[in-house]
Amino acid sequence: MKRFGLILISILILTACDQSTTKSENSEMDAFVSDLMSKMTLQEKIGQLNLITPGGGVPTGSVVSTDVEAKIKAGNVGGIFGISGPERLQLTQKMAVEESRLGIPMIFGYDVIHGYKTIFPIPLGLSCSWDLKMIEKSAKIAAQESTADGVFWTFSPMVDIARDPRWGRISEGGGEDPYLGSKIGQAMVKGYQGDDLSANNTMLACVKHFALYGAAEAGRDYNSVDMSHLRMFNDYFPPYKAAVEAGVGTVMSSFNDVDGVPSSGNKWLLTDVLRDKWGFKGFVVSDYTSINEMSAHGLGDLQAVSELAIKAGLDMDMVGEGFLTTLEKSLNEGKIVEEDINVACRRILEAKYKLGLFDDPYRYFDDARPEKDILTEENREFARDMATRTMVLLKNENHLLPLKKSGTIALVGPLADSRDNMLGTWAPTGETRYAVTVLEGFQNVAGSDVKILSAKGANISNDPEFAKHVNALGPRIDIDERSPEKMLQEAVSVSKKADVIVVVVGEASEMTGESASRSDISLPDSQKKLLQELAKTGKPLVVVNMSGRPMTIANEVDMADAFLQVWHSGVEAGNALADVIFGNYNPSAKLTATFPRNVGQIPIYYSIRSTGRPQGGDTFQKFRSNYLDVQNTPLFPFGYGLSYTSFEFKNLTLDKSEMTKDGQIKVSVDLSNTGNYDGEEVVQLYIHDKVASITPPVRLLKGFQKIMLKKGETQKVEFTLSAQDLAFYHPDLSFYAEPGEFTVFVGGDSNASLSADFTLVN
Ligand code: NOJ
Repeated sequence: MKRFGLILISILILTACDQSTTKSENSEMDAFVSDLMSKMTLQEKIGQLNLITPGGGVPTGSVVSTDVEAKIKAGNVGGIFGISGPERLQLTQKMAVEESRLGIPMIFGYDVIHGYKTIFPIPLGLSCSWDLKMIEKSAKIAAQESTADGVFWTFSPMVDIARDPRWGRISEGGGEDPYLGSKIGQAMVKGYQGDDLSANNTMLACVKHFALYGAAEAGRDYNSVDMSHLRMFNDYFPPYKAAVEAGVGTVMSSFNDVDGVPSSGNKWLLTDVLRDKWGFKGFVVSDYTSINEMSAHGLGDLQAVSELAIKAGLDMDMVGEGFLTTLEKSLNEGKIVEEDINVACRRILEAKYKLGLFDDPYRYFDDARPEKDILTEENREFARDMATRTMVLLKNENHLLPLKKSGTIALVGPLADSRDNMLGTWAPTGETRYAVTVLEGFQNVAGSDVKILSAKGANISNDPEFAKHVNALGPRIDIDERSPEKMLQEAVSVSKKADVIVVVVGEASEMTGESASRSDISLPDSQKKLLQELAKTGKPLVVVNMSGRPMTIANEVDMADAFLQVWHSGVEAGNALADVIFGNYNPSAKLTATFPRNVGQIPIYYSIRSTGRPQGGDTFQKFRSNYLDVQNTPLFPFGYGLSYTSFEFKNLTLDKSEMTKDGQIKVSVDLSNTGNYDGEEVVQLYIHDKVASITPPVRLLKGFQKIMLKKGETQKVEFTLSAQDLAFYHPDLSFYAEPGEFTVFVGGDSNASLSADFTLVN
């Protein structure tokens, strides 16, 4: 019956060209899918709901293992992830198209999180660019490269709001803020999916992890989540909703529970909110065995939890095969109805239709493309440029940076020459061998008048047990054969010979990411010691902290003359860092997650609500909401980041003092570059609702623009606010703005002090 597949294809060539969703095309799709489904057996329909990974998630897994082959031919596989390469995927697709009864093509996915082979900075880093166009382009390049390698479904963007840097996966998202997170999620969906999902260089996106995964208690991965509906709707849901509004094709359920029910079996979440409230039309895929894991959550055996999932509105089962092995039984026992399966099957077939797979199941398999499209010079150039825009300058005393391209530099630290740690976490398609180390970057950029002396100085950690945990996916912490003392001595001795020390410390890439939570987010002792010794030399000290999360680095910042927070920056990490250090690029990045002073302040974020006993200022006050042993304020606030130049904000004006419900207010401010370099500033606009029916946050980001100014230049920057920007969810989940007074703040971070007031009138 492969013949049937071919007949289908020819019918389609005659009938459907454009896959966009006008009404008539929708009805063509409906008719096509209905016709196909009328020919499918129950098991074939259930087969469509089955997503497998031949290598158990490891990209080296074999696709032609007998089990997989047999399942494909029997029509028991709807999609495969974790494998790539046009030749291999063509072969695999052929099995489905030519050897299964109905010839239904499979969908091929992968975790393309921050680039395919051209690896960009980790998503937390990307978000610090506040550059939506560049972020969108990074996703577009990822789609171009992935599809060239036969992969056309990515499990990205991850938009989980995260306010707890102990959680390792804070690295995979856009930080703490729902407004910025929503914009980034939308930019990425647009970048991946483009305007035409059926083009052979765009890919299906998957927003994840729905929902609230970033709010795991105590920052421990996979842990329970418990929060009010108000907080869900106002703070945590917006980025998922925004991705749905941007047309994301798929949604991944999260591992955690929501209101006591694991997401993968949560009907309120997957149907009432996602589909009924937000109008999501694509399909929902579980996370890796998250259906099965509902048994460990305590919701029953595999049959029971699979039943729960399908009834909740979950369509595709990732890896666990609970659907494949139990749904028919549940149907026979009257626990589910055939319509439950039909609905899920239809959604998956619709996605395949929209991708154009029925038109040409081999559309992504062109042997000539990898060479032409992947890891090109142009893509690497973009990755380098992108990475420079993610590096946040946190301190720069006496304008130590940028460094002159002359003299002697001691480049030391465990991450100064560590190829294995440049790409960052969750880059399974990336290859560390292509990454540029910091030392190489310095050699490429500094020029011949700079003498570079290098030394490792310390291990990332001296603890072999810790290293073993971190190295589970490959070598990241390499404990040197030399003693720690010997390494320290070497670093101090080269530093003494230098004019300036640049020390690259931080986290190995897998010290963040999935299942990489930390209870102590400071630098490991080995590195603290190194910094102390280097500081004692009295030489100017530039500290570069390369990490996947905000860290508690107060002492290290104190010791440094200049401090750069650089994340794991991808395949061009070393070149990009050198560009920033030597002033080829003037830093413009701003933090998107608050840096705490210590772990006791966590969870920490800028958009807190005022308590009834707010602390005035930052000094201890008895019977006020504060700590005995630390200030309330963070080490570095959301939105913070310096430049080599300086900026001044003046003349904040509103074009009127009253806004009507349908009206708008124009906010303008004069931004001047008052320093000695050309540079970019991220102009941020926050609002505060002065009196409301529920406690309003002290500030909320409602707009931003990244502005390039030449030195000495001034520009008027304008924003438009409408009542929609002032609206919030109420206890009954209605969404509207309340009339009354508002304050607007504009500036270069979330502590912006320029303000003006206006009133929203009825
Ligand atoms: C588990 C992770 O939570 C998810 O983000 C990822 O997409 C899947 N594994 C597939 O690799």
